[in-house]
Amino acid sequence: MSATEPGAKTEVTMEEIVALCKRRGFVFPSSEIYGGLGSTYDYGHYGVLLKNNVKAEWWRAMLQERDDIVAIDSAILQHPRVWEASGHLEGFTDPLVQCLGKCKRRWREDHLREDLETEGKDPDGPLVCPSCGGELSEPRQFNLMFKTHIGPVADAGSEVYLRPETAQGIFINFKNVLSFARKKPPFGIAQIGKSFRNEITTGNFIFRTREFEQMEMEFFVPPAEAEKWHRHWMDERLRWYTELGIRPEFLRVRPHGPEELSHYSSATSDIEYLFPIGWSELEGIANRGDFDLTQHAKFSGEKLEYFDQATKERYVPHVIEPAAGADRAVLAFLVDAYDVEEVEGRTRTVLRLHPRLAPVKVAVLPLVSKDGLPERAREIFDSLRHKLPAEFDEGGSIGKRYRRQDEIGTPWGVTVDHRTLEDGTVTLRDRDTLEQVRLPADGLLEELTARLDRPWSTPKIR
Ligand code: GAP
Repeated sequence: MSATEPGAKTEVTMEEIVALCKRRGFVFPSSEIYGGLGSTYDYGHYGVLLKNNVKAEWWRAMLQERDDIVAIDSAILQHPRVWEASGHLEGFTDPLVQCLGKCKRRWREDHLREDLETEGKDPDGPLVCPSCGGELSEPRQFNLMFKTHIGPVADAGSEVYLRPETAQGIFINFKNVLSFARKKPPFGIAQIGKSFRNEITTGNFIFRTREFEQMEMEFFVPPAEAEKWHRHWMDERLRWYTELGIRPEFLRVRPHGPEELSHYSSATSDIEYLFPIGWSELEGIANRGDFDLTQHAKFSGEKLEYFDQATKERYVPHVIEPAAGADRAVLAFLVDAYDVEEVEGRTRTVLRLHPRLAPVKVAVLPLVSKDGLPERAREIFDSLRHKLPAEFDEGGSIGKRYRRQDEIGTPWGVTVDHRTLEDGTVTLRDRDTLEQVRLPADGLLEELTARLDRPWSTPKIR
């Protein structure tokens, strides 16, 4: 079955990804020693490095490679009026149904209807509990924002919310940024940060969690240019994923139907990825029109508009918003990279991550733990580590160490053997081709930097 057919599945299961993440220290269930806390996860060493690389690539694409976007890092706690103005207090709700039968579980009604549609049934037909077959309650609207209190007294006047999206921190700073950044529309403000949602339907590892990181950019444009920039950002964001190695046939763009649009959006298209749970949203690209700036102007009393000196025109810019999840992107990169192959009669699991995303770029391994090889290997490691994320590993057989590096996606391995002591050369092994070349140790840094700069595409494209 090809990736484009309905019901298509990835070749890797979520269980395999979860197991690899735990085994190799990418992601752990949170609060595990206390029995876990629903849908929260902790990132381990390699997970931190991988997620940092994903976020660094996003910043690179937004800031370094363009000159029309600036950065911001706004507070998680914001004035409660922000959420009134944004519509989240009223509109950020999911329809919730509860099983009235044996299991009493809660479900999202819209998800159950989507499942009916996927199964080829009438999406408006009767629903039963997917777990125990029991009758379901009438849907009830459930607000997804986490509430807390500011100050020592927990009364209604001290209520604040953990932000459910990073976007509003950008809109409320529109005026500040405009006054210092010397930008005029079209220009963007980009932010990466934590968001919080009291999600009902969870359980797909880091795909949907209650605390997650978003990578959002609000691009302010003259109203007449909104559609053009919406198309531009869909192309750009698709390119970002494919240049970082995601197989194009595992990505697709799906425009939202009118009933699906968020309260702020006049048009949204999702970039979907074929996750092990099926085609699902990876990133949303919305045309938010002038909704947010107009609302915040109304609620705050501040003018949030742009005055064009050249044309003497005053207008409220429209907003195009590529909104990605850092954790969801990490999951997509892991799923796309996961591969299992037979090599000389042995099974090897390998993460074919783009080298720029790989947590460790090079592992330096002494062939054996004696004869001065560890000491020489450490010198070589020290000569590389200041320029490249590198790892020194001398424990266990060389085969075992390579398998470990393959599973964390290290693109290159350097083996230091007895010949190194004689002629100063080492073996450089490529994770994907398994090709080994011999080269002088003092030329390693140049060779690795050149390899890291080369365009890369996954060998999983068959
Ligand atoms: N500001 C617009 C906005 O927040 P969204 O589609 O709700 O739009 C954007 O979220 C992206 O954030 C999603 O495409 C997804 O990648 C990520 N995201 C949203 N909810 C998430 C959750 N509960 N867990 C993990 N990632 C999530």
